[in-house]
Amino acid sequence: MAKILVTGGAGYIGSHTVVELQKVGFEVVIVDNLSNSNIEVLSGIEKITGIRPAFENIDCVDYVSMDRMFDKYQNISAIIHFAASKAVGESVEKPLLYYRNNLVSLINLLQLMPIHKINNIVFSSSCTVYGQPDILPVTEDAPIKTALSPYGNTKQICEEIICDTIHTNPCYKSIILRYFNPIGAHPSAEIGELPNGVPNNLLPFVTQTAIGLRKQLNVFGNDYDTPDGSCIRDYIHVVDLAKAHVIAVQRMLNQRTKSDVETFNLGTGRGLSVLEVIETFEKVNGVKVPYRIVDRREGDIEKVWADPTYANEVLGWTAVETVEETLRSAWAWELNLAERAKAE
Ligand code: NAD
Ligand code: WQD
Repeated sequence: MAKILVTGGAGYIGSHTVVELQKVGFEVVIVDNLSNSNIEVLSGIEKITGIRPAFENIDCVDYVSMDRMFDKYQNISAIIHFAASKAVGESVEKPLLYYRNNLVSLINLLQLMPIHKINNIVFSSSCTVYGQPDILPVTEDAPIKTALSPYGNTKQICEEIICDTIHTNPCYKSIILRYFNPIGAHPSAEIGELPNGVPNNLLPFVTQTAIGLRKQLNVFGNDYDTPDGSCIRDYIHVVDLAKAHVIAVQRMLNQRTKSDVETFNLGTGRGLSVLEVIETFEKVNGVKVPYRIVDRREGDIEKVWADPTYANEVLGWTAVETVEETLRSAWAWELNLAERAKAE
């Protein structure tokens, strides 16, 4: 079976994707510098699939080390490039860190691909490229809006770098996947999201509040133009998201792509408000999430959810997990983390 390089494979979405790749028989090589992840994730993956993936602690920004890595692992068929810095607020404080990490990592890979005869790359993009869309649900041909943060800008620039580069060689193919809001964890609760410090994203804050690590959740605004006044997002189970990467890789390897770059939204097509997330989480897990309404968070989008029709029809992929199951998996993961912390 083909060998796939997964950069950032020790991270949240990467680790779930490694599991799905291994499940269908792909051989996986992870490159990760562990800047936002823990080596323990390899044991989690091994517990689920029975296979410990090859792992290299390398910074994708380091061209020479990446070149050596490609020499070591011959015949890589495709790259899935997750490795990036992703904290929106931090990117405002440290823009150059974000531009350097996210742009140089991608440029190195694109430069090394022809040298090592690799034609295929899947890139992790984000619904953040749409800003506040004029039309909902948002389709792939919606206009790209001015980025609200250096992080968001890196995703836009990376998409452009890919489009400018891929057509220079007729063998190259790229699939750009624009994720909506990934949440939840593997049903085994062996792997999940490991937020660093105080979480910025909603779900880890919800689970940490429910378990008592945080006193209460701040809901950022209830005066938006939405049915209950809180913001709306398209929350997608991370395992559904991971499976789309397997399909994307198979599509490239089977030469079924229709153009040198294809771009897909990965969302459920359902919008859920912050208050609905809290209410459903409490209901399905039988726990309370103390919260209070506070001011809006600067830079927040009021409402966004995907039109996933293109991915449904062309990739044959659909998000299948219910929001209830997704929120149950997030809680099971938090409970597992608490067990581990107790055992230490
Ligand atoms: P994550 O931080 O959990 O995973 C990223 C992994 O990449 C981490 O393990 C980190 O250690 C590694 N990494 C970072 N820079 C590296 C470098 N220079 N060299 C090697 N490894 C490096 O993040 P995630 O949530 O799994 O996100 C994966 C990708 O998806 C990122 O590109 C992110 O921008 C994108 N994305 C994430 C979301 C989200 O909400 N989680 C939404 C849209 C897009
Ligand atoms: C979701 C909703 C908040 C925390 C960010 C990035 C985006 C993408 C995904 C990568 C919003 C509300 C949150 C809290 C709250 N990442 N919220 N209290 O803002 O959709 O997107 O992550 O590409 O680029 O910007 O996700 O999880 O931060 O917020 O009320 O403590 O939850 O206002 O409405 P967001 P999020």
